[in-house]
Amino acid sequence: MTDFKERVFSGVQPTGNLHLGNYLGAIKRFVELQESRDCIYCVVDMHALTAQLYQPDLPAQTREVTAAFLACGIDPARNIVFNQSQVSGHAELAWIFNCVARMGWLGRMTQFKEKAGKDRENASVGLFAYPNLMAADILLYRATHVPVGEDQKQHLELTRDIAQKFNVDFAEAIAGHGHGEAYFPLTEPLIGGPAARVMSLRDGSKKMSKSDPSDYSRINLTDDADTIAQKVRKAKTDAEPLPSEAAGLAKRPEAENLVGIYAALSNREPAEVLGEFGGSQFSAFKGALVDLAVDRLGPIGAEMKRLQADPAHIDRVLAEGSERAAAIAAETIVAVKDIVGFVRH
Ligand code: AMP
Ligand code: TRP
Repeated sequence: MTDFKERVFSGVQPTGNLHLGNYLGAIKRFVELQESRDCIYCVVDMHALTAQLYQPDLPAQTREVTAAFLACGIDPARNIVFNQSQVSGHAELAWIFNCVARMGWLGRMTQFKEKAGKDRENASVGLFAYPNLMAADILLYRATHVPVGEDQKQHLELTRDIAQKFNVDFAEAIAGHGHGEAYFPLTEPLIGGPAARVMSLRDGSKKMSKSDPSDYSRINLTDDADTIAQKVRKAKTDAEPLPSEAAGLAKRPEAENLVGIYAALSNREPAEVLGEFGGSQFSAFKGALVDLAVDRLGPIGAEMKRLQADPAHIDRVLAEGSERAAAIAAETIVAVKDIVGFVRH
């Protein structure tokens, strides 16, 4: 098998209300990975159009996600931080992948089914083809690893299917152009830890989400200390004290969620957290969780606000990142055009 240079890629949509799930499931892990890997982090503004077509706040939300990346500790000098729409290769490769992926593959995507709901006839073609654009984001940089939350697992499986079909169907051209046995890597998802799926604070069976109408269901990265405290205190729980071992969290989704959040915020395992809090009532545990959450999120929210007050600085970061991303993307697009058989002149 061809050896691929290790590279991390991930994306976050600028659709407002960045929350604790985005932080623990994704952005906190982006920060950790920059220590050991070559990373590209993208604000996927083209994907945002699938949520709603005209969004007057799109520019502010794009800057907000960028500010969150920086405030959480992503260093734009060591990594590439940019917004998707500024590198045309994403759209170009997505078209090719529209022709690689099969209707049946996309029809099985659970996120499409959830988002389109009953009125499928009225869903945009973009919402249906969304996973192809996501595969293009990743494979444009021939990324080998993608840190995401659990909800993106199926999209990453599709990305591998697309890479595999491209490699097999174009095998002769890939070899003929000197790219060896495979042009695209079979990208590995990096999903895991106690907060791969952070649940709503109001309902332990639903994931914490930007689109939940209740703001009490999530902790936003820009919430102040009082708001965080109120939301944690009102979080749904059951009547039992906390168990002493992780097995005792089974069938107690709200308890499991709060313990998972505590574990992820303190870089510990749920079992260790229960070693400390097993037997405690929720009131005591929630008090400790408020302190921890305020301690970890307070500085992030403050730094986001400071950065957002200087949009010109954020735009410079994105412009510089886009230029660096475009240089890598251009090589892939040239190679893909040759492989597919488009005449270049
Ligand atoms: P999105 O806001 O949908 O673009 O998601 C950005 C990243 O956050 C993706 O890697 C998601 O998998 C992750 N994410 C979103 N919601 C959650 C959640 N409730 N728990 C864990 N990760 C999440
Ligand atoms: N679909 C992802 C989400 O909703 C966002 C995304 C778009 C992404 N392109 C990506 C994530 C590429 C990882 C890699 O969360």
